Order: sequence, then structure tokens, then C-alpha cells
Amino acid sequence: MKQRVFSGARPTGRQHIGNYLGAIQNYVALQEEHDCIYCIVDIHALTTLESTDRLQHDIHEMMLDWLAAGLDPEKSILFVQSHVSEVMELHTLLSMVTPLGWLLRVPTFKEKARMQPHNVNYGLVGYPVLMTADIVLYKAELVPVGEDQLPHLELAREIARRFNSLFGFTFPEPQAKLTCFPLVLGLNGAQKMGKSYNNYIELAATPEETLKLVMTAVTDPARKYRSDPGHPEICNVFRLHHFFNPARVDEIAAECRSAGIGCVDCKKLLAEGINSTLASFRERRASFAAKPRYVTEVLADGAHKATTIAKKTLAEVKEKMGLLPPVSCRIQP
Ligand code: TRP
Repeated sequence: MKQRVFSGARPTGRQHIGNYLGAIQNYVALQEEHDCIYCIVDIHALTTLESTDRLQHDIHEMMLDWLAAGLDPEKSILFVQSHVSEVMELHTLLSMVTPLGWLLRVPTFKEKARMQPHNVNYGLVGYPVLMTADIVLYKAELVPVGEDQLPHLELAREIARRFNSLFGFTFPEPQAKLTCFPLVLGLNGAQKMGKSYNNYIELAATPEETLKLVMTAVTDPARKYRSDPGHPEICNVFRLHHFFNPARVDEIAAECRSAGIGCVDCKKLLAEGINSTLASFRERRASFAAKPRYVTEVLADGAHKATTIAKKTLAEVKEKMGLLPPVSCRIQP
């Protein structure tokens, strides 16, 4: 039997090249040999959102990117977390076997509490319990995530282990599957590429927008004049050539070191590489976007398939936790 993979991502709207290289590409590859379930975690998003005005829009845009990048609803289950409400029931049940001390120690909880002191909500504390429910509801064994999620995954394993020891074996302990892609830095070269830093290039950007954004990227700070030799090993633009101009990296590095090309030339090459790599993605995206109900249909189908699995697990959990009457007293449907 194929191993089951589950991963979730917050609804951040249009995806950028950091999301693509770090996560989406990996999701797509896993579809071939695993039984994959990918989820847009809208309930998790509520733990930090100030406003939900853009939530539906962001889910739609993100799904268009996922589909255009090659996530295939024929191969994988693609759905929105809140569409399968069983996860909220399982979250409540798992919360009974999760010591509060475990949750208060999670580094992301402490960080979020510091970042939004006006809104340290109960959901924020339970975030890893909901994440555990996401994973174990489908009895997933592998969870592709970035390194930042490892403490959450560790907790998921502990909660699964504890449930199993209290109520009998039910959940496989989920393993993190780290993406082996190096960190993708943002255009300013300072932090990782991310929506919150405004240093990103959207996959769906036009070729012109892409060129304009790439032109703003920070390069080797020691290279002040066109005639100065560059240091590709410390240049973020050069790093991106590995992904978007893989056949030309040696040539570009040599030209940079000898000042044969300047940073402007180098950025033009990068924009060309990004635009040609993403050309078919952009075409597919436009064709999906032209069918306004397509995303809704994919998500409805995904929720339907996910619900079938979820109901089975939840019934098993309720039975084991003693929440169902003895078999002889049950009313058969
Ligand atoms: N906490 C994850 C993140 O930020 C998102 C997430 C929610 C998740 N549920 C999950 C990831 C289940 C993997 C598996 O980014």
C-alpha cells in the first residue's frame, strides 16, 4: 500500500517562488508515489487574522496556483480544512489528552504571543492540537514541512503516542519529511521570501512585473561599479539562477567574477529564466481562472473524499474513548 502523505498550508493567497521551490514542487513530486492529501488550513489562519475579508479570495487564488503547478485532483485529495468539520471534533477530543504544559512550551506559541499581545487567543495555544488532528484524522505517516514546523510535528507524534497508549493503537506516528531545498531568500536578500516581508515574486506575475521586481533585488554589496568583479557565492540573485537557469550557472558565475556581465545583465537573465520556467504554469493558471467554478468543484470533490476517511477515523476514536453506547444498545441507521 502507498504511504499516506498529509500537508497543510495557510491560505496566503497568490503563491510566490519561495513557496514553489520550498513546498509546492515537493507536493507535486510526492503525488506520483504516495497517497497525498493537501489542505488549505483556513481555521489555523483564524488564530492570527485581523480580518477575514480576503479569506475566500486568498483560498481561491492559492488553489489556482496549486492546480496550475501540477497538483492533480485525480491523484491527490485537495481540500479546505473547515469543509471537513470532523477535524474540529477530533481537535476537541485530542485536547483532552494533551497536557497544557506541552503547548505552552511550543516556540511558535511564545513567538506569536509576543507578536500579537492584544490577541493571545485560546486557538493559538491549541494550534498544534488542531494540526495534529489534521494529520491523524487521515492516519497520515509522512508530513512534508519546512524546518520551522518540526516542533509542531514532534508534538503531533507525542499526542498520537499518548492517545495510542491510553486507548489502544489508533494513529501511526507521523514523520516529518523535510524538503531539501535551501532557504529561498527574498529580493532584499535579508530574510526568507515571504508575504509578510514584501520581498517576493508571485508565480502568477506577468513577465513585465517579474522583470521589474527582479531589478529591485539586492546583489553582491561589494560590487559597486560595473567593472568590479562580483562574488556569486554570496549573491542572492545568483542563488536563484540555480533554479531558473540551471544549465547556465557556471557560465554566469564566471562572467560575474570577471565582470564580463554586470548585475543588471545578470538580473535580466534571471527574469528571462523565471519567465520561461513559469510560462506553461501561467498559461494553465489562466485557463483554470477562466472557469469560475472550477476551483469550487475541485474543492467540493476533495472535501467529499476527505470526509469519507475522516468519518471513519472519528467513529473509531469515539468508540475507543467510550463515547458510544454498547453495541447491543445502538440504534442501527
Ligand atoms: N502549521 C503549518 C504552517 O504553518 C500549517 C499546517 C496546519 C500543517 N496543519 C498542518 C502542516 C498539518 C502540515 C500538516 O505552516
